[in-house]
Amino acid sequence: MERKIIQLSDIHFGEKTFSHDLKNNALKQIEDENPDLIIISGDLTNRGYAHEYSDASTFLDELKTVTNVHVIPGNHDARNVGLVHFEKLIGERKFLHIDKNGGFAIIGLDSSEPDINDGQIGIDQMLWLQAELEKIPDDLCKIVTFHHHLLPIPHTGRERNILLDSGDLLRVFIANGVDFVLNGHKHVPNVWMVENMVTLNSGTVTTRKLRGETFPSYNHLIIDEGEIFVNIINTETGYKRELARYSVQVEGDEYNICSHKHNFLHPNQF
Ligand SMILES: [Fe+2]
Ligand SMILES: [Fe+2]
Repeated sequence: MERKIIQLSDIHFGEKTFSHDLKNNALKQIEDENPDLIIISGDLTNRGYAHEYSDASTFLDELKTVTNVHVIPGNHDARNVGLVHFEKLIGERKFLHIDKNGGFAIIGLDSSEPDINDGQIGIDQMLWLQAELEKIPDDLCKIVTFHHHLLPIPHTGRERNILLDSGDLLRVFIANGVDFVLNGHKHVPNVWMVENMVTLNSGTVTTRKLRGETFPSYNHLIIDEGEIFVNIINTETGYKRELARYSVQVEGDEYNICSHKHNFLHPNQF
C-alpha cells in the first residue's frame, strides 16, 4: 500500500535566519500533502537552549495533528547540554518504526556529540542498530536516518563536520541490506547511491542559512509497490520537483532497488 513520508531537517529554532513564514509555509504544505509519516533528521534548535526546545515542541505538536512524527537530534541540539531538554520535551534520541503494510521500516540514530560539530554513531549504538536491523523482515525497505551526512555533499564549500565512524557504519548498512539513508546537516539537498543503497540529504526547511544558490527545502518520498519516488519541495514557493525515482522488487524474500534515475538539480532550475 502506498505510503508518503516527509523528511524535514535543520529547522533551527533560535537561529537568526529562522523564518516564521517558512515554518508556516511548511506546515500548510504538509497539511495539504497529508503524509503517513514525518521524519525530522536533527537540528531542531540553534544552541540547544530550553526556550528553543519549547518552540520546537510547539511546532512538533502542530505536525502531530497531521500524522506520526519521529525526531532525532543534530549537532546544534547537543550544544549547551541541550540533549537534557531533547529527552524531556521531544522524546528518545533513537527509534524504530516498522510499517509492514507500507512495506518499510525506519531506524533513527543519534549522531550528535556534546558541543562539537563532528558526529559519531559510536560502538554501543552500532550494536543496537545491528540487532534492530536483524529483526526487520528482509522483504521490507530498510531506511536509516541520522543527522550528519554519511557521504560528502557537493556545493557546500570545504568538507568538514564529518561522521567520524562513517566507514564502519557504511559497512553495517551494506552488510544488512539497508536501502535508504536519510541525512541532514549541510543544508544542501543531494542524492548519492553506493552499492545499491541511496543516501538522501535534506536541505534546511525553515531557515535562510543557505549555501550559494540553494533554497529552503525538504524531501517527500512515496513508497509504492515496485517504485519509490523522491521529490524535493521548495518551502518558499511550495514548488515540488522530482529528485529521483527507483524501481524496486522483492527477489527471493530480499527487498532490492533494481534501477534508479537521479535528476541532479541546479538551484537555478527552481
Ligand atoms: Fe543545521
Ligand atoms: Fe547540523
